[in-house]
Amino acid sequence: MNQTYVTLNDGNKIPQFGLGVYMIPGDAETKKACMEAFCAGYRHIDTAHAYQNERGVGAAVKESGISRGEIWITTKLWPSEYGEGKTQAAIDKMLSRLDTDYIDLLLLHQQFGDYIGAWRDCEKAVAAGKVKSIGISNFESERLEELLTKASIKPSVLQVECHPYYQQKELKKRIASYGTVIESWYPIGHGDRALLNEAVFTELAEKYGKNNVQIILRWHIQEGTIVFPKSTNPNHIQDNINIFDFELTEGEMERIRALDKGVRFFNMSLEEQEAHLSAFVPAD
Ligand SMILES: NC(=O)c1ccc[n+]([C@@H]2O[C@H](COP(=O)([O-])OP(=O)(O)OC[C@H]3O[C@@H](n4cnc5c(N)ncnc54)[C@H](OP(=O)(O)O)[C@@H]3O)[C@@H](O)[C@H]2O)c1
Repeated sequence: MNQTYVTLNDGNKIPQFGLGVYMIPGDAETKKACMEAFCAGYRHIDTAHAYQNERGVGAAVKESGISRGEIWITTKLWPSEYGEGKTQAAIDKMLSRLDTDYIDLLLLHQQFGDYIGAWRDCEKAVAAGKVKSIGISNFESERLEELLTKASIKPSVLQVECHPYYQQKELKKRIASYGTVIESWYPIGHGDRALLNEAVFTELAEKYGKNNVQIILRWHIQEGTIVFPKSTNPNHIQDNINIFDFELTEGEMERIRALDKGVRFFNMSLEEQEAHLSAFVPAD
């Protein structure tokens, strides 16, 4: 199996495929899913302070016996940790929870609070060798352009909702000149049945001897986005990475592009998000 890598705008190479651990409750279950994934060949985990399971990720990395340099860990700072000076302290706590000397990719999770102050601290963490690459998540308002303009280190990735029903074609154009690449969250629509059962996926799954989810994940890979479907099911974990031995034709890619409805699964206005998400403060 030849996994693919994306070279980021800072020169670092990220495995294009990984495991997301959002909504995996607790460190023990997270560790178990990560261990399954490492055994299946995964080398990239996407977590966040807000998921409250970074310790499980760190424990799996240690116990896997795989050298740290072979594994890519992404985690995310919550707005309650934003602010010049304050964010540096939050990064140190993250390193301790993950039980590691460095974070491969650190993201600002949401576009609220003192994100510019936080970004300055992220840049300092890169200079200090505590973080290799830095990026952002959910910046889709005019705050995206503000951050892109003010940043000394331009974000390497922008992690947003992206799947065949919501393909982020405009956003890709907005970030292209910065060399920032899209990471897809809800890559398989959070398991949405209507998406998974689209006729085109069933037809292509039959043609290639794959399942519908594998067709969607292969489409993401060929679109150049970075993808990390969540699963705790060992069969799904095995299947999801088994997408590097076939290729969709350009005509098939176009048929999947035609499914774009411009419809999100996560539907909240910026104001609603700010009110709802700012109320949450993750525990250390
Ligand atoms: N930055 C952000 O704000 C943000 C927001 C959301 C997500 N994310 C990141 O993106 C990752 C992925 O998003 P997500 O977890 O919300 O959604 P997702 O990966 O699109 O979907 C996960 C769902 O699909 C199911 N599933 C996985 N593989 C399957 C398969 N082969 N066949 C059938 N069902 C399958 C999973 O159930 P099983 O466990 O039973 O397999 C789970 O219910 C997250 O884990 C997180 O790392 C980031």
